[in-house]
Amino acid sequence: MDKKQAKQEIDKLSKKINHHDYLYYALDKPEIADAQYDKLFRQLKDIEKEFPELLSPDSPTQRVGGQPLKSFKTYTHKKPLLSLDNAMNEEELLDFDRRVREGLDKAKIEYVCELKMDGLAVALVYEKGQLKIGSTRGDGVNGEDITQNLKTIRSIPLKLDKEVNLEVRGEVYLPYDDFIKLNEEREAEDEPKFANPRNAAAGSLRQLDSKITAKRPLDIYVYYAETHPKLKTHFETLEHIKKLGFKTNPNTKVCHGIEEVKKYIKHWETNREKLKYEIDGIVVKVNNLADQEKLGKTARAPRWAAAFKYPPMQAVTVIQDIKVQVGRTGAITPVAHLKPVHLAGVTVKRATLHNEDEVKRKGIKVGDHVIVQRAGEVIPEVVKVVKDKRTGHEKEFHMPKKCPVCGGELYRPEGEAITRCINARCSAQVIGRILQFCGREAMDIEHIGPALAEQLVEKKIVKDVADLYSLDKKDIQKLERFAEKSAQNVIDSVRGSKDKAHDRVLFGLGIRMVGRNVASLIAQHFDNLEDLFDIKTDKLTHIVGIGPKVAQSVEHFFAQKDNQQLVERLKKAGVNIKAAKAKGPQPLKGKTFVFTGGLEKITRPEAEELVRQLGGHPSSSVSKQTDYVVAGSEPGSKLEKARKLGVKIISEAQFRKILRST
Ligand code: IVH
Repeated sequence: MDKKQAKQEIDKLSKKINHHDYLYYALDKPEIADAQYDKLFRQLKDIEKEFPELLSPDSPTQRVGGQPLKSFKTYTHKKPLLSLDNAMNEEELLDFDRRVREGLDKAKIEYVCELKMDGLAVALVYEKGQLKIGSTRGDGVNGEDITQNLKTIRSIPLKLDKEVNLEVRGEVYLPYDDFIKLNEEREAEDEPKFANPRNAAAGSLRQLDSKITAKRPLDIYVYYAETHPKLKTHFETLEHIKKLGFKTNPNTKVCHGIEEVKKYIKHWETNREKLKYEIDGIVVKVNNLADQEKLGKTARAPRWAAAFKYPPMQAVTVIQDIKVQVGRTGAITPVAHLKPVHLAGVTVKRATLHNEDEVKRKGIKVGDHVIVQRAGEVIPEVVKVVKDKRTGHEKEFHMPKKCPVCGGELYRPEGEAITRCINARCSAQVIGRILQFCGREAMDIEHIGPALAEQLVEKKIVKDVADLYSLDKKDIQKLERFAEKSAQNVIDSVRGSKDKAHDRVLFGLGIRMVGRNVASLIAQHFDNLEDLFDIKTDKLTHIVGIGPKVAQSVEHFFAQKDNQQLVERLKKAGVNIKAAKAKGPQPLKGKTFVFTGGLEKITRPEAEELVRQLGGHPSSSVSKQTDYVVAGSEPGSKLEKARKLGVKIISEAQFRKILRST
């Protein structure tokens, strides 16, 4: 291939890849199989490698790369990015409609209603169809040039089909699920968690190293573009930019008159929790562009648009007390006991304060008025203290010196945020371990729940999970709310758990950092749990998918005589601690599966269990060693990673076909 041919080939491949990126990321309607896409991508990479002088910054292979920046450059917007006037209630919304009607001298206005994404406003400048500059809104006049980071967002086209000059604006956001996952990862690595998806998106866009941004599955909805002479309405503009390759929100609607706008607002107020991303309101825009022009703007905001703000999923309440909770691993978590407050459909009485440093950082005291928030998390969080409401009677919180449950010693390793009770016999930890052991994905002992576990431990009937197997029916009958039948159910469900697979037993032991999939991975390499007694870290890290932190935790757990004895006692009680001689065929042996997105016919744990039963290994993260990524509806970042690594991607239907054919 000579240089001219190479250039032609690069152009052709780039165009094709851009087109398929658009179908996949912006429209969610892929037309080719992943393998075909990967082939195109590889072909392009190969040619670019051979002819590096032909490498263009807007090549689809160049989304991530470049050196980390020292700082962001300021970018002055050609036209300021305006803000929106808020309508906080129906009255203010009707006022807005009245002003518009009077300004245009019309009886009824056609509006476009859009979801107000709670993310970050960005502007994308294209010259001759090429993305030149992507910037933050900043103060509306000056923003920051974050082109390198915005290029990592796959739904942002780097090159348009038409060589147009254009500026579009939109909102970058992080979907809820990805936000929760990101926070879990940060917690596991002892990094501070983000308070909400918006902060997470902002933090991700502010990275000087775009490789970090690339790992965060950010997305964008574009909501504005400079008009094209032929376009008459805002809605047509949105359709136009969608055709050009941008992702627009599918929930946008043309509403005839303010009554329809009110309906739209009501609908999303009750349905907003079903969305995969956070919105903080609705934006109402006059549809006709000539009318927009006529209404004009103030220095701050256009007169043709208003933001109807939903009441935030935040509320103010009082911290009546701060108590600490002791978890299964001994972790001591301060929890705020709140004056009950209504928040996003539920009554909130508790909020997690995470750890000692967090309480200090936020300056939280008992008696403080605080803002609490639910942002995709089950347990609400305290956002900040309302300092103005202080009376001087608030009391400083101090971490206890001793474990509040067992009175044992507490220990906070240097450099770690978590304080732990080091007494493994602490009843809070014992209860936690019993619940872990009895859990559905471990031994599935369904008749033992929190209330019974607590009684069994408090009454000293059970001191560890092995004791469950010598429970006496009479002992249970003596407990509150138990009769002969219910006691027998407990005994039966314990007995019925003995032949569970040994990886479930391993998971049930509740070793720190050993989740369900890690347990299964380890169990695949060790046929007998006793073989782990003298395990050394390096032997575990040889297993693909096991990192040093997990390995250390496993070594530490089994090095302790108490834990070895526990496994021996389980064995003696008849609990299976060995790999079963493969029951039936193991057609998926050695195959690793990762699931992403929602499955329709079965739940994710069920699908993972099926994989295990057939000898395969389900994992939660994609790597080169992954054999299949099963993509359900609205798949997350794993899909992208799989594509990058060339891992085979299959649908739920294809997955079921594999199961059927085995
Ligand atoms: S229109 C002149 N549409 O809300 C046009 N803004 O409070 C002004 N936002 O800075 C923006 N979703 O970051 C518009 N569908 C949407 C929006 C939206 C979110 C944000 C945007 C803006 C802020 C104003």
